[in-house]
Amino acid sequence: MISEEKVLKLDNLFKSFGSKVVLDGISIDLNKGENLVILGKSGSGKSVLVKCIVKLIEPDEGTISVLGTDLAEANNKELNALRIRIGFLFQGGALYDSMTVRENLEFPLARHHRKLDQNELDSKIDEALDNVGLKDAADKLPSELSGGMRKRIGLARTLILNPEIMLYDEPTTGLDPVTGNEISELILEMQKKYQTSSIIITHDMSCARLTSNRIAMIRDGKIYKSGTFDELKSLEDSWVKSFFV
Ligand SMILES: Nc1ncnc2c1ncn2[C@@H]1O[C@H](COP(=O)(O)OP(=O)(O)O)[C@@H](O)[C@H]1O
Ligand SMILES: [Mg+2]
Repeated sequence: MISEEKVLKLDNLFKSFGSKVVLDGISIDLNKGENLVILGKSGSGKSVLVKCIVKLIEPDEGTISVLGTDLAEANNKELNALRIRIGFLFQGGALYDSMTVRENLEFPLARHHRKLDQNELDSKIDEALDNVGLKDAADKLPSELSGGMRKRIGLARTLILNPEIMLYDEPTTGLDPVTGNEISELILEMQKKYQTSSIIITHDMSCARLTSNRIAMIRDGKIYKSGTFDELKSLEDSWVKSFFV
């Protein structure tokens, strides 16, 4: 269920690194319960855009409102409280190599929920692993898992904190098509099960088709076109078409 309520409002964002303009006036909103895919060529500022949402990067101009809070006006305490409500699956999504899968999940959980006892931690970890179909991998080390399985564990580790907003940065990149589609299906399942609102950055068109309620295409630091997968696919625009071949 997608509601009219906005969980994210990005308004007229500008960001340059030196003389290189990366974001050149981007405005976009995310509705509660919506999967918004951001599509763009490599180096077009997609990762910069999502990093702005968790204030890893600050825009030069423009405003960002997350769950009703203006990031520029939030103090550190408010910012930390807000970050807990946002899950970020980074490009690469690194796990701790020396920790088992269970320990990888327990680490953020115990840190953010200090009141949980071991039984409660264990049951949340079991639920999270079950969500990604990897209950049997709990005691394995990341090195014993395939790339697709590691990606699932990274997803479980993020989702275990029950984020209201999920930011997926290239969740299927580096995976074979079948495994990539499994990750896309998981993203959809999590949207349905937890009503998460998500931004999914990708240049994998299969991921975009499977997961998106809406797609925004970034070109030269601006939103060039937006619409549903089918709307964009039918546009007579050579740049847009180059994505849909
Ligand atoms: N911290 C940074 N310092 C300098 N340049 C950066 C930084 N982060 C990103 N850039 C530059 O911004 C541009 C967009 O990067 P990015 O958002 O990572 O692209 P992508 O769309 O592939 O995710 C690139 O040219 C990149 O080199
Ligand atoms: Mg990127």
